[in-house]
Amino acid sequence: MATWSRRTPLLLAFCLLATVDTVAGAPEGFPASGNGVWDNAPGTSWARGSYPIGNGYLAAMIPGGTTLDMMSLNLESLWPGGPFQNSSYNGGNRKASERASLKTEMDRIRSTVFSSSNGTAYSLTSLMTDPINFGNYAGAGYLFTTVSNKDTVTDYARWLDLDEAVMHATWTAGSATIDRKTFCSHPAQACVQQTSSSASQNLTFAYSLGPDPGLTAIDVTCLDSSTLQVRGHAGSPGMLYEILFHASSSTASCQSAQPYNTSVATSNATLSASGADVTVVWVGNTEYSMDAGDEAHNFSFKGDDPHSALASRISSLSGTSAATLLSAHVADVKATLTGPFKLDLGQTAQLDSTTATVLTAYKVDTGNPYIEWLLFNFGRYMLWSSSRGTLPANLQGKWAHKFTNTWNSDYHVNINVQMNLWSAESTNLDVTQSVFDYMEKTWVPRGTQTAQILYDSDEGWVTHDEVNIFGHTGMKTGTPQSLNYPEANAWMMVHVWDHFDYTNDVSWWKSQGYPLLKGTAQFHLNKLIPDLHFNDSSLVVAPCNSPEQGYITLGCAHAQQLIWQLFNAVEKGFSASGDTDTDFLNAIRTARTQMDKGIHIGSWGQLQEWKVDLDDPDDVHRHLSHLVGLYPGYAIASYDVAKQGTAGSSNLSYTKAQVIDATTISLTHRGDGTGSDDAGWEKMWRAASWAQLGNAEQFYHEITLAIDRNFVATLWSTYDPAGYEPVQIDANLGHPAAVLNALFQAPDVASYDDPLIVTLLPALPAAWPKGSIAGARLRGGMSIDFSWSGGALDSATITVANSVVPRDVQVVVDGKVVKEFTTKAGMVQTI
Ligand SMILES: *[C@@H]1O[C@H](CO)[C@@H](O)[C@H](O)[C@H]1NC(C)=O
Ligand SMILES: *[C@@H]1O[C@H](CO)[C@@H](O)[C@H](O)[C@H]1NC(C)=O
Ligand SMILES: *[C@@H]1O[C@H](CO)[C@@H](O)[C@H](O)[C@H]1NC(C)=O
Ligand SMILES: *[C@@H]1O[C@H](CO)[C@@H](O)[C@H](O)[C@H]1NC(C)=O
Ligand SMILES: *[C@@H]1O[C@H](CO)[C@@H](O)[C@H](O)[C@H]1NC(C)=O
Ligand SMILES: *[C@@H]1O[C@H](CO)[C@@H](O)[C@H](O)[C@H]1NC(C)=O
Ligand SMILES: *[C@@H]1O[C@H](CO)[C@@H](O)[C@H](O)[C@H]1NC(C)=O
Ligand SMILES: *[C@@H]1O[C@H](CO)[C@@H](O)[C@H](O)[C@H]1NC(C)=O
Repeated sequence: MATWSRRTPLLLAFCLLATVDTVAGAPEGFPASGNGVWDNAPGTSWARGSYPIGNGYLAAMIPGGTTLDMMSLNLESLWPGGPFQNSSYNGGNRKASERASLKTEMDRIRSTVFSSSNGTAYSLTSLMTDPINFGNYAGAGYLFTTVSNKDTVTDYARWLDLDEAVMHATWTAGSATIDRKTFCSHPAQACVQQTSSSASQNLTFAYSLGPDPGLTAIDVTCLDSSTLQVRGHAGSPGMLYEILFHASSSTASCQSAQPYNTSVATSNATLSASGADVTVVWVGNTEYSMDAGDEAHNFSFKGDDPHSALASRISSLSGTSAATLLSAHVADVKATLTGPFKLDLGQTAQLDSTTATVLTAYKVDTGNPYIEWLLFNFGRYMLWSSSRGTLPANLQGKWAHKFTNTWNSDYHVNINVQMNLWSAESTNLDVTQSVFDYMEKTWVPRGTQTAQILYDSDEGWVTHDEVNIFGHTGMKTGTPQSLNYPEANAWMMVHVWDHFDYTNDVSWWKSQGYPLLKGTAQFHLNKLIPDLHFNDSSLVVAPCNSPEQGYITLGCAHAQQLIWQLFNAVEKGFSASGDTDTDFLNAIRTARTQMDKGIHIGSWGQLQEWKVDLDDPDDVHRHLSHLVGLYPGYAIASYDVAKQGTAGSSNLSYTKAQVIDATTISLTHRGDGTGSDDAGWEKMWRAASWAQLGNAEQFYHEITLAIDRNFVATLWSTYDPAGYEPVQIDANLGHPAAVLNALFQAPDVASYDDPLIVTLLPALPAAWPKGSIAGARLRGGMSIDFSWSGGALDSATITVANSVVPRDVQVVVDGKVVKEFTTKAGMVQTI
């Protein structure tokens, strides 16, 4: 076993070999700003020990080993299950012939809910379907890299550079300093690993495929003397995939060998190369194609064998040096990740000890601006590196190492997919195309059938909480709290609407955004029904469940608030969409007036989670579903009695102050996010919600509690504090959004006639007395730069890039309107 010591600068290492152990500090080359994660020993576990890289298509987790590095690999669409496993796979839908009987059953459940004394039903199992061949996101195995130099390793360091999105490992062995860089390039659609030695020694590198995670019939063969070819299937039967590894060296050779287990692999070739500088480039893909998920393609999702496209890509890259690939990658990072947006929290980089040591010293409430800033950058980096492929980031981004991973590493749409995206628009990340394509191409085709068969609706489409990449839109068998969730699309439409509202991209809106929104709105329009429990002539959803807890009931606050917001988006975006279907628009307006708005104040002063007052003051559930209109929505944050005070014959006429008080009571009773699961994401949601209420102390308490309890040495969030796994990408990705919500807010509004209220420093914690933001985006095609010191605003500049409609804007600082203007393209306002 090698011994590990702290890394010193390269030149010093050579002269001071005897004293290296006394020299502390981040490795040479580590960003001076502190924007990276580093350690002085390789990782020994997956989530707690490895650093993630990815370009959206491909991903890897790297422990940074020396003589042997075992990197886990990912291909974004590698899923067993679906039509590749069973040609009769149907997305969890019932047979079309069952439509009439399902309607009878739905009517019976509705009538049970309405006529019961307390507005609840016991079961809706009869609407559910066994999720046959649902599948799961699978790891793509490991690349083992070995280096021949077996001298004792000293001066080891590894780091993930977040300025350049490159993973580094360096160490000294004998007289040589070895340096290894690994990155996944988006422009090249390839990942690259370059290992070089300072001495002109002749090292031998070998690349082979390590333990098979359950993939079947893997063939590891030699495509040619410098290219290793991996081909296999995700399950038996299952989709075909291929990965090609090319070594750029005239000494490269590829040799076949007997696999260790002939029933899992038919051959096991090894690629080797020798020299002082060797680069291996890999590309990979599956035969999955999102474009073949519709009826015209029999919902097959089957595209071409990936081989020829991969072979030509690797051959076009084989003449490109590692340095050229790296500079194109770094230019892309600057253009798309670090260039467009910058945050400074007044942090002081702590480079004397490893990131893990700094994190270990982290304390609740005391916090540490450096860690909070670093996690902000890390969260944005993870979203960027896992969303720029064809599919959106799943529950683990794109990083998973087992054949089956927790919760299938799928898409959960009752908070998780959404939280992943919370910071995208406001921090100027162009990462949302994959999620819009994913909805359009995998949810809409099957979801149109689900709307017809399960909900007797000939218009629109639907999906439920747990979704795969094969259009599983039916209601899975299981607990109704998790699975009776047809509001998944309504919540996702917040992101569709926001993308248009932030960018004012009219051509995208016409071609993709508005069609998604309209289909969702048509479905929910048809599904709203008169409330025959309270008989108040309002329209409600029934049967509904509030995500993951409680009762099968009617008028769930979460659903009613989201549908109200959805209908507002239809009205706001109608004119720009070019739609001429005014009957539809009028039907939306009528239903919006009549519908219950999901805002009721209950017996203990709380904002009710259900229309029937069933809330328990001791309920500390992880979800804040009924407060969705506080954050990330606006039904509460921008509450307006003129629009939301009446429904049918009821006139609740709460003032905004009453609604905010009730929301505060509910949020307080829901606890700090340790009472149910103790997960990271529930604390980040609470943090953002407290910030929305302008409570800096509670905001900071929640983010520091999450960081203290749920984040591990690699800066990954894990689901429960004690556990190694599962990792939990939504908490990582939710953190940047929570931080921003304490620094500025501009919640959406029901109508373009309402002013957009931009509040600066609404919940600034005492720990961040000074700082700045550059390149943040606001609704209405605006961007904002501002700085603060001594806890107070210095100056702010708002630039209107483009404007589809002139909008009134009020800028609020310390509770006072400091600026008012009406947007016009090209306008610049300073405060
Ligand atoms: C294939 O899918 C159909 C439709 O879901 C199902 O009825 C059948 O049982 C499945 N077959 C297998 C072997 O899973
Ligand atoms: C509603 O009433 C039914 C029948 O009386 C009862 O079984 C059920 O527990 C009640 N549910 C709640 C949430 O009180
Ligand atoms: C390096 O070693 C390999 C065999 O280990 C040999 O084939 C190759 O010629 C050597 N290259 C140099 C530059 O010495
Ligand atoms: C392939 O060979 C490598 C190197 O000898 C070994 O570590 C790996 O387990 C082998 N894999 C299979 C599937 O046989
Ligand atoms: C070989 O793989 C098969 C299939 O996974 C497994 O059942 C068997 O136990 C393995 N044999 C050995 C010697 O590992
Ligand atoms: C779809 O299935 C039908 C009937 O099974 C078949 O005739 C048709 O060729 C298939 N189309 C495609 C694109 O696979
Ligand atoms: C509500 O109205 C329906 C239909 O008119 C009626 O059957 C039901 O008894 C009424 N419920 C209440 C609580 O008044
Ligand atoms: C609702 O009540 C408020 C206050 O009592 C009143 O001003 C308003 O006109 C009422 N609205 C309707 C539609 O009855």
